[in-house]
Amino acid sequence: MRTTIRDLQKMKDKDTRIPMITAYDYTSAAIAESAGVPIILVGDSLGMVVLGHDSTIPVTMDDMISHIQMVVRGTGKAHIVGDLPFMSYQVSTDDALRNAGRLLKEGGCQSVKMEGGLAIAESVQCVVQSGIPVMGHLGLTPQSVNQLGGYHVQGRTEEKAVAMLNDALALEEAGAYAVVLELVPGNVSATITERLRIPTIGIGAGIHCSGQVQVFHDLLGLFPDFSPKHSRRYAELGLAATEAISGYVIDVKAREFPSETESF
Ligand code: KIV
Repeated sequence: MRTTIRDLQKMKDKDTRIPMITAYDYTSAAIAESAGVPIILVGDSLGMVVLGHDSTIPVTMDDMISHIQMVVRGTGKAHIVGDLPFMSYQVSTDDALRNAGRLLKEGGCQSVKMEGGLAIAESVQCVVQSGIPVMGHLGLTPQSVNQLGGYHVQGRTEEKAVAMLNDALALEEAGAYAVVLELVPGNVSATITERLRIPTIGIGAGIHCSGQVQVFHDLLGLFPDFSPKHSRRYAELGLAATEAISGYVIDVKAREFPSETESF
């Protein structure tokens, strides 16, 4: 049985922190699950770290469904959250419902994530009432990067912090089961976490959130040249992979690969 949204709520109620990570394919998902991650996000960040776009904007429903299927096939216990991509839920509640349904029916995930607060509360409610759990996403919402003018910390002024709290309360009221807080000052995420009944999952939002989420590639150092301030590298797999493949290149050129035992 996979982790359920009730299990996640129990974790918040018992003050047990929730570790979440992104994964985008069969292998990365299997690795994350075997490390004990109870909830995996197939984030639209795959647009950048897998597909090579410079933002999440170009990601399509077909991209999401295909990668969610891979992650579902690589796991059996973790709860899988699928990101609804840009413009798949912003136009109408009908779109939100239809596309959230596609992620569950065709992708096989157990819940969906949507960016925004009050402005999308009606759509969140509609999706939840159809039986699809929704995770909210506030603070830096990457699908709005052009409106926000870059990837900056959000909620720094009193007015913006209050607006974010109201957005979070609106999502809870609409039936969301958790809310991601991205690039939010620690005191603001602490207040939101205290005021909400549902869990908050932070990324660059300090220590007081009910859980943390990190991008697979950031955590494992797969991009040696870039590391966001909020992430901690637990390995240097990018460097290790380059070194390993350089060894292979040298061996092939020197005619040292394959050996007798590696041949038929
Ligand atoms: O797309 C993503 O990976 C995300 C996380 C960074 C929260 O939304």
